[in-house]
Amino acid sequence: MKILGVSAHYHDSAAALVVDGVPVRAIQEERLSRRKGDAAFPLAAIEWCLDDAGVAPEDLDAVVFYEKPMLKLERILVTALRAFPRSWRTFPQAMRNTLGEKAWVKGIIASRLGVSPRRILFAEHHRSHAAAAFLTAPTREAAILTADGVGEWTTLSVGRGVKRDDGACAIELLRELRFPHSLGLLYSAFTAFLGFEVNEGEYKVMGLASYGTPRFAEQVRAMVKRTPDGAFALDLRWFEHHTTARRAWSARFVEAFGPPRPPHVPVDLATPDGARWADVAASVQRVLEDVLVDLARALRAETGLRDLCLGGGVALNGCANARILREAGFERVLVPPAPGDAGCALGAALYADRIHFGRPDRPVPDHAAWGNVVDPLELERVAREDGLRVEEAEDDRAVLEGVADALARGCLVGWMDGRLELGPRALGNRSILAAPDRAETRDRLNREVKYREEFRPFAPAVPAELAERYFVLPPGGVRLARFMSGVFPVRPEWRARLAAVTHVDGTARVQAVDRETSPRFHALLAAFGRRTGVPVLLNTSFNRAGEPIVARAVEGYSTFRRSGLDLLVAGRCLVSKERAAGGALEEAVS
Ligand SMILES: [Fe+2]
Repeated sequence: MKILGVSAHYHDSAAALVVDGVPVRAIQEERLSRRKGDAAFPLAAIEWCLDDAGVAPEDLDAVVFYEKPMLKLERILVTALRAFPRSWRTFPQAMRNTLGEKAWVKGIIASRLGVSPRRILFAEHHRSHAAAAFLTAPTREAAILTADGVGEWTTLSVGRGVKRDDGACAIELLRELRFPHSLGLLYSAFTAFLGFEVNEGEYKVMGLASYGTPRFAEQVRAMVKRTPDGAFALDLRWFEHHTTARRAWSARFVEAFGPPRPPHVPVDLATPDGARWADVAASVQRVLEDVLVDLARALRAETGLRDLCLGGGVALNGCANARILREAGFERVLVPPAPGDAGCALGAALYADRIHFGRPDRPVPDHAAWGNVVDPLELERVAREDGLRVEEAEDDRAVLEGVADALARGCLVGWMDGRLELGPRALGNRSILAAPDRAETRDRLNREVKYREEFRPFAPAVPAELAERYFVLPPGGVRLARFMSGVFPVRPEWRARLAAVTHVDGTARVQAVDRETSPRFHALLAAFGRRTGVPVLLNTSFNRAGEPIVARAVEGYSTFRRSGLDLLVAGRCLVSKERAAGGALEEAVS
């Protein structure tokens, strides 16, 4: 049975193909269209998945959309009518957006793919999140918590999942919280208030939080009224997200936290405003963590289960995830590499397979690499045409040794290996790598490659079996660090040697690299460790600020040429910024 999952029209569209119960391809539209966070109907992603797997649209047994558009339309209508007349501006805009595409998804899928409307299914949005988290996880039974901004109505759900011995799967929903009460929208309101782009800037709020003290936590808590079942309700006097699309916060917000940050004003922590914004970030981060820990703790008590699967965009918050692991009583917290809406394409397809069609469970490979393979020959051709020196290593070992040498010398390396990752994190397949020991490396990366704010930390990658030597991990921490889903303290004795990846508060978003699923990246860490004594590398996504992560060799090459990277690697092909005829290349063009 061949099932295509599709997520689209909100943020970060994606397609995923599941064949006989196992994912075979998945990719985000932005990686192909090269428009960051592309929300368009993911025609390129769909075409690529089908083409690369050799499946024709007419062979598809089902196409599953990751939400129910009519439910979403209902929410927008009801919300707008409730808030009338304040909503009069939002109303036509929301109607246009929704009626323009969302409500007619069936027609779009049917006409663009030539698939019979009878084969088009819709999975509820938080069911897609829950499926993406639970059905891909190596567990037979787990509690499930999903939290995001909003889907149709649901903004948070708790439940449990089971894969029975006969292969039958079930995802049971225990409770849900509905719009406008939303942890995701709470965090997004602060993201916008702090001058960052919603759906993009949430990471920046978390990074900034480490520089502040949560002195506004009481005020944030006042807007999140707790309910007896461990959930909460937002005090809507603080917000406007339910009445207007123009602004998420109300005048009361500004009274409590002071003026918002205009997006063009840099965050200078030495100024009173900069320090205040960091304190506001620290405060909302603290309250988000407290609420999630309480919800998870209640869910643990209720279900008695040992594993917790987390889904939804909120599960990208590595500080919150680590606190849940430490404090909620679960033995393992399992977060998929793409817990956000892109991962819902995969979740929706698996949900249809296991639950709608009732087909038996199949183990899902425990990695993120479902995208295109990088072609070293393409890199070689592009580099030669451009006149750069290309070195063809003799074998894999020579590649690893050569790259480890360059890294130990302080080079910034663009590393492309195997299939592109699904989700926002580069996990060693489309990564920029560097030695982790010097803060100057971090600054050089920010300045010459990434062009981004200095308060955002870089992540370390370490062989999973050695992670505890360098980082303070609670039981279950290595698992949470598999896809960089948790933030943990760097052991104090290693902080100087890991200066480029240690955040201001002594923590790091660790990636514990598994030898079996990432053998080449694991071997590279080991080769680097043989040279420097510390098998840890700085690993950041291979892109420049505002651009999607590179997918193909040609995009890697273009990023390499427009930035301060020193070496570019794909397969056995190594490209440096030397002219083929010898002599140094002119400064990289940006
Ligand atoms: Fe979502």
